[in-house]
Amino acid sequence: MSLAAPHHTNLAELLRRVAIFAELDEEGLRDLAARMQTRTFPAQAVIVTLEEPGESLFIVAEGRAKAVLYGESGREIILSMFRPGEFFGEMSLLDHRPRSANVIALEDAKLYSLDRRSFEQHLARHRQTALAMLAELSRRLRKADEVIGNLALLDVYARVGRILRDLAKEQGEQAEGGVLLRNRPTQQEMASMVGTSRETVSRALSDFAKRGLLDISGRKILLRWAFLRQLDDAS
Ligand code: CMP
Repeated sequence: MSLAAPHHTNLAELLRRVAIFAELDEEGLRDLAARMQTRTFPAQAVIVTLEEPGESLFIVAEGRAKAVLYGESGREIILSMFRPGEFFGEMSLLDHRPRSANVIALEDAKLYSLDRRSFEQHLARHRQTALAMLAELSRRLRKADEVIGNLALLDVYARVGRILRDLAKEQGEQAEGGVLLRNRPTQQEMASMVGTSRETVSRALSDFAKRGLLDISGRKILLRWAFLRQLDDAS
């Protein structure tokens, strides 16, 4: 891990894209930018460790990270993925308890961190950040509720379908015949998101492909309109 002084111009641009800071004025953004430190982590590095004391909030500038828990046999459960403009590590700052999950870099990652004192001072001065943080926590709880509901109510194929539909909504591009995902998660990652094995995800994807519902080519996947319509009808 390396620590360096932040580059303020780029940082202010990035902060403007972060949902919880979107309402801040120039002064608020400058205040935040001045308090942040740059940190870089290589792919697979552990950024946050479960049960450790947590003293900072992280914002992703480059690369992706995943929040994970490990089951008894070492099976990985992915709780969430964080892309540029997203944040993690807020829970320990808010409830003063140890980290609730591990967060691991999926690729070489550049992050900005904000320590507890700066976070608290900023929240005290900028009510809009506190309210936006509550909205984001509600959004995450809704998503977690949906995952819990899906685990109980849907079979694995439907869960894999939902993951693909959510990704299409978040980062898909309109293409001929459907929505294109350029950088889909690996089969192992999808398995860890829906609570099943890699083999089952592989089977579901090839069955969907055989039925003409999607086309896979390397990390690219085209979700055909018929597939997206079916998933929407089912929800
Ligand atoms: P914290 O507990 O400080 O450290 C681990 C972080 O992972 C946590 O803060 C959140 O930012 C993130 N995290 C844990 N559980 C979830 C979840 N269910 N959805 C999204 N993010 C989570």
